[in-house]
Amino acid sequence: MNHIQGSLIYEGKAKRVFACKSPDKVLIEFKNDATAFNAKKRSEIKGKGRLNCKISAALFELLESNGIPTHFLELHSETFMIADKINVIPIEVVIRNLATGSLCRETPIPQGTILNPPLLDIYYKDDNLGDPILTEERLKLLDLISMIEMEKIKNITRSVNKILKEYFDSLDLLLVDFKLEFGTNSLGKLVVADEISPDNCRFWDKKNSDPKGRILDKDRFRQDLGGVIDAYEEILNRIEKTSSKTT
Ligand code: TMP
Ligand code: ASP
Repeated sequence: MNHIQGSLIYEGKAKRVFACKSPDKVLIEFKNDATAFNAKKRSEIKGKGRLNCKISAALFELLESNGIPTHFLELHSETFMIADKINVIPIEVVIRNLATGSLCRETPIPQGTILNPPLLDIYYKDDNLGDPILTEERLKLLDLISMIEMEKIKNITRSVNKILKEYFDSLDLLLVDFKLEFGTNSLGKLVVADEISPDNCRFWDKKNSDPKGRILDKDRFRQDLGGVIDAYEEILNRIEKTSSKTT
């Protein structure tokens, strides 16, 4: 199908959203720009856009095949995907299977603690405020969504975690944690949006016990560990190996 790229609707830190021929669809471009710590740290990583676009497409397809509604419609090219045009719900939902990152900076919970059941945190999506964590009471006060919708979002996030954790386990990768974003499409349906890639997930290589060597995600950039693109490439390679087995 031919989707002509229209005007720029929105530019974020890692993606650009363009209008396309159909008013209820958009074209999303994955950029090579990398940011961390609320964009205090910035760089351009050649090839990242392509890898994140392909990884996200494969993971959205996996979720769809497991009955999880997402905004993904089809890949358009190596760095563009076609997705539902959505109203973004301004929250970021983080689910953690192992303790690391901000959880260990902000609490005395030791690195690598297994979180069973997984810990689900809600953040307010606002760069100017530094995406602050929300309590249930603050979430109600903000009145961003109904509590019924919030429960749906939490349940979808837990289901996504189960599907992805099991899937990555089979690729010898530990899914440490990840962040999801949600929106409603033109039919008012709640869908998983944004991207699912090493930019917003943490992956540890089960075959490597070195605490730095095993990191295969944006922590390599955040912590200046080098080898960012090789790590992302490794994630895509393992995904592509499984899809070639099933096709
Ligand atoms: P955190 O430990 O820094 O809170 O991150 C938890 C997960 O959320 C991790 O997989 C990285 C992801 N994440 C984002 O996708 N965007 C963000 O702005 C932050 C802070 C984290
Ligand atoms: N995506 C966020 C930022 O740029 C933070 C992060 O992923 O660590 O600023």
